[in-house]
Amino acid sequence: MSLFYIKRKGKPRQLQFSICKTSRVSALLPGYLGPGLSSIGGGGIMTPMSILPYAHSYVQGIRAYKPGKPISETARELHMKPEDIVKLASNENPLGASPLAVRAMQQAAREINLYPDGSSYELRTKIAERFGVELDQTVVGSGGSELIELVCHTCLGPGTELVAARYSFAMYPLMCKLFGAAFVEVENKPDWTHDLQAMLRAITPRTRVVFVTNPTNPVGSMVQQQELDEFMAGVPEHVIVVFDEAYIHFADPQPDTLRYVREGKNAVVMRTFSKAYGLAGVRIGFAVTTTEIAGLLHKVRSPFNVSSLAQAAALAALDDEQHVQKSVQLVRAERKRYEETFRAWGVPFVPSQGNFVLVNVGDGERIFHECLKRGVILRPMSGYGLHEYIRITIGSAEQNDRCLQALGEALKA
Ligand SMILES: Cc1ncc(COP(=O)(O)O)c(C=O)c1O
Repeated sequence: MSLFYIKRKGKPRQLQFSICKTSRVSALLPGYLGPGLSSIGGGGIMTPMSILPYAHSYVQGIRAYKPGKPISETARELHMKPEDIVKLASNENPLGASPLAVRAMQQAAREINLYPDGSSYELRTKIAERFGVELDQTVVGSGGSELIELVCHTCLGPGTELVAARYSFAMYPLMCKLFGAAFVEVENKPDWTHDLQAMLRAITPRTRVVFVTNPTNPVGSMVQQQELDEFMAGVPEHVIVVFDEAYIHFADPQPDTLRYVREGKNAVVMRTFSKAYGLAGVRIGFAVTTTEIAGLLHKVRSPFNVSSLAQAAALAALDDEQHVQKSVQLVRAERKRYEETFRAWGVPFVPSQGNFVLVNVGDGERIFHECLKRGVILRPMSGYGLHEYIRITIGSAEQNDRCLQALGEALKA
């Protein structure tokens, strides 16, 4: 637990967080600290007096990100053994991490008393080599989530705008609230892909960042090279374009967005180790961008934003191409099986390039609860206004058997 005192007009007040992760605290502080306010230390017990009047009103308006329902919580509620529960709600890798990454973490654990390399030098060097860029064009973050936050921290504030597709990652509107910026949501095309020309038209002098989520979550649709080229040709120079490629490994073909970085455009290619590499639990992702943008992102990240375990795991994972290929092949084969089953059942779905499928089950919340009763956790999509839909992560063949069994029963219930 971390406790922070916030000083306002000479009087210290306390803010109590139940999570002690530095990156999370730094995520919360921008919403609390402002001109004339400063953090002055730690320790103590929370006072009963409400702190809310002193927090930014836009922070109070935030609806916290709702992740997939955890296995442990479901096991407690259903009085089931955790090992009997199948979770296909958070787009995790059913094969786990590469054994090389696990071994590297075990090794790194021996020196866990030491701070990590704050610059993630070795990992960034490897990423730079892999992508054919300079070291100072790379940034490593505590998951892609932190990199998204760093970009927003760098350029968003009151009076600025972020443009993204309506059906894209739920963190973007949340970041807008956190930094007091406006979220400009652009309707997807009827085929669920990003409407890049409409996104171009949505750019104004106030726009600071555009997110292109490719493939997009929670839909699984993708935009291809030519559309991306046409889009990039029209983006004005004051705008940063972030290509959020969390799911790119599962896609075929994979457009080359690094070319925009090479061309010196204000582009950020963002990847994560959470999906194809199976390292969601250690929290690590990276961005490749221009030297100028990378420099800014390094300024706003916290000094030791990526743990030594995460750095070691990612370094090893990059060497285990076989594990990535196995993960990708599993997803592609099982995704096909889901899609064929839904076609046979007459259940509408969105063809996906990710490790998940968006399915129209009529009433997403009802089906979510019916499947939950059967020990299968899926993701209802009401948060996106997609009340008829659930999103299913592609699991192992056995997990998918369990899911299809539960889903078949739920649809008839
Ligand atoms: C589109 C997209 N971008 C980024 C992320 C962030 O992933 P992480 O923070 O685990 O790297 C996710 C996670 O689900 C995602 O769906």
